[in-house]
Amino acid sequence: MSGFSSQWLALREPLDLDARDKKVEEAFFDQLPGRRSRILDLGSGTGSTVAALSERLPEAVDWLLTDYDPVLLDAASHRWKNLSGSDVAVRRIDLSADLEQLPFQEIDAVTTSAFLDLVSEKFLVRLINQIVKARKPFLASLTYDGRAQFSPAHLSDDDLLTALNTHQKTEKGFGTALGPDAAGRAVELFEQQGYRVVQGLSDWQVQPSSRDFLTEFLSGWVRVGQEVGLDPRALESWWQERAAQIREGQLHVVIGHIDFAAFPQ
Ligand SMILES: C[S@@+](CC[C@H](N)C(=O)[O-])C[C@H]1O[C@@H](n2cnc3c(N)ncnc32)[C@H](O)[C@@H]1O
Repeated sequence: MSGFSSQWLALREPLDLDARDKKVEEAFFDQLPGRRSRILDLGSGTGSTVAALSERLPEAVDWLLTDYDPVLLDAASHRWKNLSGSDVAVRRIDLSADLEQLPFQEIDAVTTSAFLDLVSEKFLVRLINQIVKARKPFLASLTYDGRAQFSPAHLSDDDLLTALNTHQKTEKGFGTALGPDAAGRAVELFEQQGYRVVQGLSDWQVQPSSRDFLTEFLSGWVRVGQEVGLDPRALESWWQERAAQIREGQLHVVIGHIDFAAFPQ
């Protein structure tokens, strides 16, 4: 339903787990109460945030995972039903319509990953208002920031990246998406509200051995290039070269992301 299949989320999860900025996460852990706590995860998919944090959290956590995709939530329920010492509940919700129905006052902290770049300025303001009003700490992991570096480089890389970043700023269900500007804008808004922010880079380091990921990821770039009207011959030539490099285990890619934690002072 959402366009994010559980297969795609599973392909990206190992890269996400390696990339996350551990110092940012520890700053977030320091804000949790020194007892069993309740964390609300937004746009949770199959629960990548649970996978990333559960073993390092200082105390047991009861999770409330939220998403509008029932298939992903079913997968999450199944995946986490035996998580030792913690309870994982799921709630189906369209965050764009019903964000304010979530129990911000009753939880101890809010998390999200690979989600903020989908939202609009208007939604971001709504979200930050809810978090600040309830005076909760917030951890936002893996927000795409617009950078990509290929090795070896290709003459058309910049055109494709420009196309991708233009596409990132189109409607993703929340109004015009902030795309690569989302993390920076969120940090500004939290700081304006008197929150302290700790941030760091969480770039994907995609190794040549990640062939399935690279094939899926870069075919997405080609689709975006087609949608925004890049020259079909240039696009085909770029893809043929990249596909050969993937097969031969010669392509390395770095994709820029930002992690940040924000908390009341
Ligand atoms: C890139 S995926 C990230 C999933 C997960 N947080 C992770 O890191 O693997 C974005 C998620 O946001 C969810 N999503 C998108 N729009 C939504 C909306 N309006 N309401 C609730 N969830 C939404 C999608 O279903 C998807 O699971």
